[in-house]
Amino acid sequence: MKNPVKVTITGAAGHIGYALAFRIASGAMFGVNQPVILRLLEIPQALPSLLGVGMELEDCALPLLYDIVLSDDPAIGFRETDFAILIGAKPRSKGMERNDLLLENAKIFAAQGKSINQHASADVRVLVVGNPANTNALIAMSNAPDLQPQQFSAMSRLDHNRTLGQLANKTNSKVADIRRAIIWGNHSVTQYPDISQCTINGQPAFELVSRDWAIDHMIPRIQRRGAEIIEARGLSSAASAADAVVNHVHDWVLGTPTDDWISMSVPSDGSYGISEGIVFSLPVTCREGRYEIVQGLEIDAFSRTRLNITEQELLSERAVIRDLLNQG
Ligand code: NAD
Ligand code: LMR
Repeated sequence: MKNPVKVTITGAAGHIGYALAFRIASGAMFGVNQPVILRLLEIPQALPSLLGVGMELEDCALPLLYDIVLSDDPAIGFRETDFAILIGAKPRSKGMERNDLLLENAKIFAAQGKSINQHASADVRVLVVGNPANTNALIAMSNAPDLQPQQFSAMSRLDHNRTLGQLANKTNSKVADIRRAIIWGNHSVTQYPDISQCTINGQPAFELVSRDWAIDHMIPRIQRRGAEIIEARGLSSAASAADAVVNHVHDWVLGTPTDDWISMSVPSDGSYGISEGIVFSLPVTCREGRYEIVQGLEIDAFSRTRLNITEQELLSERAVIRDLLNQG
């Protein structure tokens, strides 16, 4: 057996954390030959519940799970960790405006960025899930000056998977036959789910569905899918979010298929004319644990308008939290 990889989950007693920990420990993220050590981090009030999660993990007697560390201390939670999955965040409370939520959560991610910088493995990879995920990732990244920006990402894989699901339904095809969907921009209602590059069994998606369907039905549905789930369940998506975390890290580490790409929110490097200094969802391929932004895709006038809208939202989010950037 290989040496175990250490995976930190923040907010591990929450809904996504609970759906995620068992899947990582059973091999879904890194494969069935890769042992793991789980470092589960929570706030003090949630420690009793976290102890219960620890007991259940133990009771599964999972052969790949070499150790479980439970803590409310980031210095312990992030110690020498290889993967930091940042889920724990404050939910929006009654009367709270979006900017208040941004500022509240920004403080959490600034502190966690510093702690990761200080305690994690030098090659740590970070995935931010807690909302607003893209801007939280930017904050964590800019508070970790010893790490490379490319070690930080935010999750748009759930939106990517939602797009595959909608397109498969509409065309009566299998998700496994669909390639090259893209989520551009922010994990929010301004995101741009783009199927202009998609093929289904090798056939361009726009030969099977109309552009009007994409614009009038698919795009708004994906943009509002999180709210649709909250409306139906009374709770935010959890199992599907955990599944997307597994997919995101799995592909980042083990690679993407040769004829496909995935959507990851990563620090913009100016590709496609997007401002640098924001974390933007882009199509990427992954090899040997590193991602590369797919280059050279044609951006038509419709797409450019959509890219501009979501870029502007990320720039305004950054303006709200600018005091928390670069505090390393
Ligand atoms: P939840 O409320 O069930 O769990 C959150 C957990 O985080 C709680 O147990 C809480 O105690 C903990 N926590 C809060 N602050 C913490 C801190 N500073 N350190 C460690 N733990 C902390 O919420 P959930 O359903 O698991 O969702 C978590 C976050 O993920 C939310 O922000 C939600 O909006 C977001 N989300 C993102 C996506 C995405 O695609 N990016 C999808 C679904 C949900
Ligand atoms: C989702 O996309 O399901 C979540 O980000 C929604 C939310 O606000 O928690």
